[in-house]
Amino acid sequence: MSPRKILVTSALPYANGAIHLGHLVEYIQTDIWTRFQKMRGHECWYVCADDTHGTPIMLRAEKEGITPEQLIARVHGEHSRDFSGFYVQFDNYHSTHSDETRFYAEDIYSKLKAAGLIEVRSIEQFYDPVKQMFLPDRFIKGECPKCGAKDQYGDSCEACGAAYAPTDLKDPVSAISGAKPELKSSDHYFFKLSDPRCQTFLREWTRQGSLQTEAANKLHEWLGDEGENKLTDWDISRDAPYFGFEIPGAPGKYFYVWLDAPIGYMGSFKNFCAKKGLNFDDYWKPDSKAELYHFIGKDILYFHALFWPAELKHAGYRTPTNVFAHGFLTVDGAKMSKSRGTFITAESYLTQGLNPEWLRYYFAAKLNGTMEDLDLNLDDFVSRVNSDLVGKYINIASRAAGFIAKRFDGKLVTEHLTEKFDAALPDLREVASEIAEYYEQRDFARAMRRVMALADQINQYVDQNKPWELAKQAGQDAKLHDVCSILINAFRILTVCLKPVLPKLAQRAEEFLNVAPLHWADAAHLLPPAHAINAYEHLMTRIEGKQIEALLAANRESLAAVPPAPTSDPQSPQRHAQHQQNAEDKMQSTNPISIDDFMKVDLRIARIANAEHVEGAEKLLKLTLDLGPLGTRQVFAGIKSAYDPATLVGRFTVMVANLAPRKMKFGMSEGMVLAASDPEGKTGGLYILSPDAGATPGMQVK
Ligand code: 2FM
Ligand code: ZN
Repeated sequence: MSPRKILVTSALPYANGAIHLGHLVEYIQTDIWTRFQKMRGHECWYVCADDTHGTPIMLRAEKEGITPEQLIARVHGEHSRDFSGFYVQFDNYHSTHSDETRFYAEDIYSKLKAAGLIEVRSIEQFYDPVKQMFLPDRFIKGECPKCGAKDQYGDSCEACGAAYAPTDLKDPVSAISGAKPELKSSDHYFFKLSDPRCQTFLREWTRQGSLQTEAANKLHEWLGDEGENKLTDWDISRDAPYFGFEIPGAPGKYFYVWLDAPIGYMGSFKNFCAKKGLNFDDYWKPDSKAELYHFIGKDILYFHALFWPAELKHAGYRTPTNVFAHGFLTVDGAKMSKSRGTFITAESYLTQGLNPEWLRYYFAAKLNGTMEDLDLNLDDFVSRVNSDLVGKYINIASRAAGFIAKRFDGKLVTEHLTEKFDAALPDLREVASEIAEYYEQRDFARAMRRVMALADQINQYVDQNKPWELAKQAGQDAKLHDVCSILINAFRILTVCLKPVLPKLAQRAEEFLNVAPLHWADAAHLLPPAHAINAYEHLMTRIEGKQIEALLAANRESLAAVPPAPTSDPQSPQRHAQHQQNAEDKMQSTNPISIDDFMKVDLRIARIANAEHVEGAEKLLKLTLDLGPLGTRQVFAGIKSAYDPATLVGRFTVMVANLAPRKMKFGMSEGMVLAASDPEGKTGGLYILSPDAGATPGMQVK
């Protein structure tokens, strides 16, 4: 089998919101698939980026009193942190606000224009006379024209589900200024999807045969029957003020965010090629032999299966090999809800100390490659992870490892192991090729079921052979050695099969097994004779129900209106909780923690870009911290008694970069600066940490 060239993307998340478990379904799904392809020896690259343009991002930055560039830099850091926390390993994580994306947006636009597929038309739209801008549908509210429900958005009604044009709303108001919007016309640029060339090409592209059934059905519905022309032109421009790329030759007109978003896939890959010395054209020219796959949510199929392939085709690029759409995440059978605490952010999951691989496994066990919605049933989550991963898989290693260490000097048997292994567990060495097929089809659920059925079979072998009894019987040493050696090898094969889903656990298993990083082909053979393994340390803990309760509580709490500033109401529940937490922290301060616990704290070198007094705050200074590639953070630090802000600017220090942001009376605090102090406060001294010369902003401290 010669190695394939595969380029994979996930949808680009908007740069104005936190990553939550709904997003993670997609990134985990894509990550599992790309890790699998890499383990198979293919040249597979996984690129993504933040989707940074558009009105919501512009307004959000304005509300926070920062520039859009500052906002997207900060969110880029937050998203990167969350993805790496879940072991989502992009080969490149870029931004659509980049030279590369601008280049390809302009390039594609000019080629479409040259092909006669761009048309300018004047259209009438709602305009906010106070804010002096055209209003996107979501920024207009009014009464539903169908059912009369009040306070509905300009595009659809949440009460009755009707879809309509904003001009149909009764008593519309601007959600930005509250002003009554006026109709005003302006020129817009359209991509002519209705052109017969687009129709013909899309019909052909749809017929390629490998689309998901639901996707093929949807496309057929959108395209209509042969001879019908149901597609309408796509408005790709927006008027200033807009955060995006100005359209060449059209002052005051910007590319709509959805025009440059998928082009961001190319932008990120181009940026990666430059770093890695790869040839961009090998992947993007029309006759490319490389495969191109986009993992997306089912809600954005229209953009990826109609606009995007049609644009690429007529701008002279290759088109996607396939688009893989998935369904939405529900929690306990319902839409994620902030009031129930089931709208769970990636960050809160991690800061609550839950193991990201529990979720990766659970999602894998439910993902079957279709567009069906996926339910995170919290009780099932706990029981499935505990019973499958801890009870079945890990159990195999933990039952055999001790005997190998204590009785056989850490070494496996020297002779005839393959024959004995094949007799004890027939077919186990061949099963990885069957499981590979399930991974390839993105039917991870089936792959996990197969692996767990094998784990059951191996555990039966344990029960039949009872190593703990053999260990007590005289003259059974050789048998004990065989059984345990077979188990260690069986564990290794299952580890290969689970590695795309559980990369961190697999890495620890590799250390225990004393082997180089496992590849897929390694599942077909056993460890060499007399192979020495390392001491076994428990590989995964069980989930406790109370951890789930704490997670939901944390996400419910984060909704509670504005938490009081530290100096206000001392009796408030938040303050009480904080108090208890402090007491617990004290009790635990002498208890040892594992290196894994310590590694959860993301310590970074920060340059103090600005420091200032905060009006009305007795103890706080407001710091702007530069984390280099991770962007900037605002932190309120209780160091006013010890430092004159002017002396801090330009200094380097160490900060905790993954602390949950805290809303304080004076603004958001997005981390913590490390400082030494006398615990009893007797000396009153406070000393912020500084790194040695040479450390640069954003460097990790460990
Ligand atoms: O729906 C979204 O969240 C978009 N930001 C997805 C963009 S995907 C791609 F086209 F960039
Ligand atoms: Zn309605």
